[in-house]
Amino acid sequence: MKALILSGGKGTRLRPLTHTGAKQLVPVVNKPILWYGIEQIVAAGITDIGIIISPETGTEIQQITGNGDRFGAKITYILQANPDGLAHAVKVAQPFLGEAAFLMYLGDNLIQDSLSDFVEKFVQQSLDALILLKQVANPNAFGVAQLNEQGQVVKLIEKPKHPPSNLALVGVYLFAPTIHEVISTLKPSARGELEITDAIQMLVDAGQTVASQQLQGWWLDTGKKDDLLAANQIILDDTLFSSIAGQVDAATKISGRVQIGDGSQVINSTIRGPVVIGQNCHIENCFIGSYSSIADGVRLIDVEMDHSVVLEGAVIEALQQRIVDSLIGRRAKLVYSPKRPKASRFMIGDDCQIELT
Ligand code: G1P
Repeated sequence: MKALILSGGKGTRLRPLTHTGAKQLVPVVNKPILWYGIEQIVAAGITDIGIIISPETGTEIQQITGNGDRFGAKITYILQANPDGLAHAVKVAQPFLGEAAFLMYLGDNLIQDSLSDFVEKFVQQSLDALILLKQVANPNAFGVAQLNEQGQVVKLIEKPKHPPSNLALVGVYLFAPTIHEVISTLKPSARGELEITDAIQMLVDAGQTVASQQLQGWWLDTGKKDDLLAANQIILDDTLFSSIAGQVDAATKISGRVQIGDGSQVINSTIRGPVVIGQNCHIENCFIGSYSSIADGVRLIDVEMDHSVVLEGAVIEALQQRIVDSLIGRRAKLVYSPKRPKASRFMIGDDCQIELT
């Protein structure tokens, strides 16, 4: 079996971060979102992985993720020149996929459940497709499945105005090679894309075996700021273990699970875990509260912060107020200035969101 990870797309909901980088590389607990998916696929025993990339962000994804050695996998990059839909991505990947069954994974999704059980069910029952579902509060934002009383898939609709159920299609699918035949006859949807949801509906209509499985654990679609902060919180809770490689002075108080990377210095601060701090950071006179992730090379001086993600090389100094629920981009600078007149001075990039009190 092979795997196909979709890692193209423009990431409009995570702007401005995605003006300068791929949404799948935004870190959660200092690790690119995409890597969690790769690790889970490898853990399920699949090591031949194709990654669909776009012309805009493909080079960066390739450079950072590499040929798969670090994951014990072989990664093949496949360029999708235009974002023409998920089923279009499968079409583009057909030479890579050949006659193999495959697991398809949307690169900005995170799920808690191990993928092994799904792979096993798909193989044991010789299915044409296995879809994963999760109950959600806002099904109209997703592909939605309608099941009959026996739990069989009857209907699938992409982003319905009037959802027939609250069961959303999670961005993880398993397919037999029969999917290629239906995709070859698929027509673009109203939004102009070849929808994988429509392709699976065609399998259902043709009487092929399409089964579903509901996820037990959490599922996060990290496309928006609050989802990303939620993912950061859950993964810190679930996976962080304490390890202090950097230097911490005697005046600093650390409680809970805290990780501090090599070359980082923490001076006269309070760190209340779970918190991860990357390498080569300088943290002085700060309070860093639970559920914060600080990437490499960040400088924080006289800062109070909770439940926030700070990306590589950002600088925050002497703010007069606590930062909460925030996502601070790479190399961003947020400083207190005593200059007169006493006023806020901004240079804010496109699509930023600032909430002042
Ligand atoms: C895509 C799929 C949708 C699915 C969702 C999961 O939507 O088209 O069926 O529920 O991923 O994340 P998109 O994120 O491209 O809007």
